[in-house]
Amino acid sequence: MLRRHDVWGRTAHHKQFPRAVFRLPRHRLARFLNRLFATDGTASVAGGGSARLAYCSVSEQLARDVQHALTRFGIRTKLRERSVKHRSERRRAFEVEVVDAPSQLKFCDEIGILGQEMAVLRAHAKGAFEQHQFTLDVVPAEVWDDIDKAKGDLPWAEISRRCGRPASHDWHVGRRGPVRRETVAQLAEVLDDDQLRWWASPDIGWDDLVLPERPLTVLRSLTAFLRHRDLVLDEWGFGRRSGRAQGLVAMFAGDSGTGKTLAARVLAAELGLELFRIDLATVVSKWLGETEKNLDRVFAAAQGANAVLFFDEADAVFGRRSDVQDSHDRYANLQTAYLLQRMERHDGPVLLATNMRGNVDDAFLRRMDAVVEFPFPTSEFRLRLWELLLPPEAPRGADVDLGFLAERFELSGGGIRNAAIAAAVLAASEGVAIGMGQLVRGVAMEYAKHGRLTLAADFERFHELVRSGGSP
Ligand SMILES: Nc1ncnc2c1ncn2[C@@H]1O[C@H](COP(=O)(O)OP(=O)(O)OP(=O)(O)O)[C@@H](O)[C@H]1O
Ligand SMILES: [Mg+2]
Repeated sequence: MLRRHDVWGRTAHHKQFPRAVFRLPRHRLARFLNRLFATDGTASVAGGGSARLAYCSVSEQLARDVQHALTRFGIRTKLRERSVKHRSERRRAFEVEVVDAPSQLKFCDEIGILGQEMAVLRAHAKGAFEQHQFTLDVVPAEVWDDIDKAKGDLPWAEISRRCGRPASHDWHVGRRGPVRRETVAQLAEVLDDDQLRWWASPDIGWDDLVLPERPLTVLRSLTAFLRHRDLVLDEWGFGRRSGRAQGLVAMFAGDSGTGKTLAARVLAAELGLELFRIDLATVVSKWLGETEKNLDRVFAAAQGANAVLFFDEADAVFGRRSDVQDSHDRYANLQTAYLLQRMERHDGPVLLATNMRGNVDDAFLRRMDAVVEFPFPTSEFRLRLWELLLPPEAPRGADVDLGFLAERFELSGGGIRNAAIAAAVLAASEGVAIGMGQLVRGVAMEYAKHGRLTLAADFERFHELVRSGGSP
């Protein structure tokens, strides 16, 4: 098909789409893209839980054409120039990356790639998508049926009035999309409806977090502080004497996949607050002055929304810089100082996550109200994680030995989650229950992502299976 459409007919650097391709009907264009991605596309899922889906070509025009064609499916991409190794020389290449989880999902649904990676990517993009939705903290669209029931014949204008909103308030009744949890909670109160209260209650809690006693205790006390701080600081007068704002700044430190993001979600859910998740690496702009503006915007938005601010990849800003080497470093120090100041002025909770505790400046750590350590799970905790992350509804084979998996394989909670999803995808595609054959292959896929060896000593009787990549 590619040959017929003449993509290969030119020298590598000048390949482009034959113009006729843009006139193809949607399903044929999808098929065309599918073939292109099958040859020069990559799909992978990284340890930290981010999925990557990209197409690379030495022809800039071809890359732009791919990007253009993808927009027809509503798939958002980023084009960047890279240098790739070809034989022993370096070459310029152009990469089109599908950027966000909703776009990755659309790609999976409409275009698709063959093979196992796709199945895992899909499961992953879905997870990330749901997480993203959770960050916005919305209740699924099904809630509308119950809103209708609870509302009865009461006019919307009256409901608006009871909520203290203008009669003309737009409830997006026509759209019937997902609804913010906060809104559902408000409706539950004014309509006095238990079903709506049930929808509005958060769907994760402490039970979803497998951690040793120590970090759990700190997390619980942070939550308690945040819940009662108004009473203690304002009404009991404790706030008057402390100069700084009444927020709380805490750092979550631990390896990738140990539950930092999950803990932030639980904390926000327990407090009934929204979680604003900000990737600091993307906020920290290369251009002077931009970072401050970006940060100001984030803090102002959080203040308005009564949200927990969660800065991921905090090491981007708080990395240790013992000696200032150039103007860029000096500037980075200014940024750090600015963020610190801004955090202390903020009167809501601020959480920061880092993978590199050792890399965070001590002066900075001293200014935290709390540091929560997320340890890499020991085999005892890995067993609890396996039990939690293989849902009871999933069909489970008789041979499943979670003790073996927990004992043998040093995976983080995130690794266990990925391995469990991969195993479930394998089982579903093979039409069987999830058994050891699928689980160890899920583990092996997780090992492969991190470039770890699958040793016979660990995999034992499953080693042959993992090496051949085949089915039992
Ligand atoms: N301690 C844990 N208890 C329960 N589930 C966990 C735990 N750690 C990880 N998981 C599972 O792994 C998933 C990924 O973990 P999470 O995103 O919280 O890791 P993280 O520490 O934020 O990693 P990163 O540093 O890469 O951002 C969670 O959504 C959860 O399903
Ligand atoms: Mg995280």
